[in-house]
Amino acid sequence: MSKTILELNNVSIRFGGLTAVDSVNIKIDQGTISALIGPNGAGKSTIFNLITGIYPPTQGEITFLGATINGQKPHFITEMGIARTFQNIRLFGEMTVLENVKIGQHCRTKSGFIKAIIRGPGVKKEEKSITEASMEALRLMELDHKADELAKNLPYGEQRRLEIARAMATNPKLILLDEPAAGMNPQEKMTLMTMIRKIQTNNLTIFLVEHDMKFVMNLSDSVAVLDYGRKIASGSPSEIQRDPAVIAAYLGKGVV
Ligand SMILES: Nc1ncnc2c1ncn2[C@@H]1O[C@H](COP(=O)(O)OP(=O)(O)OP(=O)(O)O)[C@@H](O)[C@H]1O
Ligand SMILES: [Mg+2]
Repeated sequence: MSKTILELNNVSIRFGGLTAVDSVNIKIDQGTISALIGPNGAGKSTIFNLITGIYPPTQGEITFLGATINGQKPHFITEMGIARTFQNIRLFGEMTVLENVKIGQHCRTKSGFIKAIIRGPGVKKEEKSITEASMEALRLMELDHKADELAKNLPYGEQRRLEIARAMATNPKLILLDEPAAGMNPQEKMTLMTMIRKIQTNNLTIFLVEHDMKFVMNLSDSVAVLDYGRKIASGSPSEIQRDPAVIAAYLGKGVV
């Protein structure tokens, strides 16, 4: 039987007069690929911000592997095993590819600031394991041969993959990808799809937001649809594609 990894129970958030997320229920099984779709401004990124602790919900509960996580700080949530990428690229262009991945693992470091300056054997050991985990994540995303290049010199599609590598290096159980294929050409999208399937085989759970419907429907086991902050449907890709409410709110409006 499949195990629930993430559950949103009646979750809402209000920004002033706007209810950006309105009484949303979502349940995600471990080891699956799920998608969250819906028109611009529907509240998709806000749901990721709620899950990762950027905002506490105004109402409702979020549980991860059975433990309540709403109200916890983002670094605690990362430590529990949830990683994410952002809708807009957030890389340090003047740093190398490897450095960009290493930076994502500060949540895992145990050595304090003073120890890091003295650089005792514990720090060196820790640094070695961070480098190894980072290289492993780069290998997964097929970027290990570019470890020493500056991030800004990577083509766009590879920059997006680098962000996924950075998230993967924290060894997450659940990864949230906010529009991972946005701005990619068809070839880059195909490559990304293959890589997402590959990382999912390590019993990783993937939850993604994406506007490219071919990408979503090809990859996902289940899809939830948001419109004006409310969940209007959820089900398998074929159920969602046939749902009249989804077609009226989103799919019928010329989305690709
Ligand atoms: N911090 C905030 N303060 C005020 N309003 C916000 C805040 N964050 C999001 N919103 C509003 O909440 C609504 C949902 O935004 P969100 O970014 O979640 O949409 P989205 O579904 O991700 O859209 P897109 O597909 O364009 O990325 C929008 O109306 C947005 O302006
Ligand atoms: Mg968004």
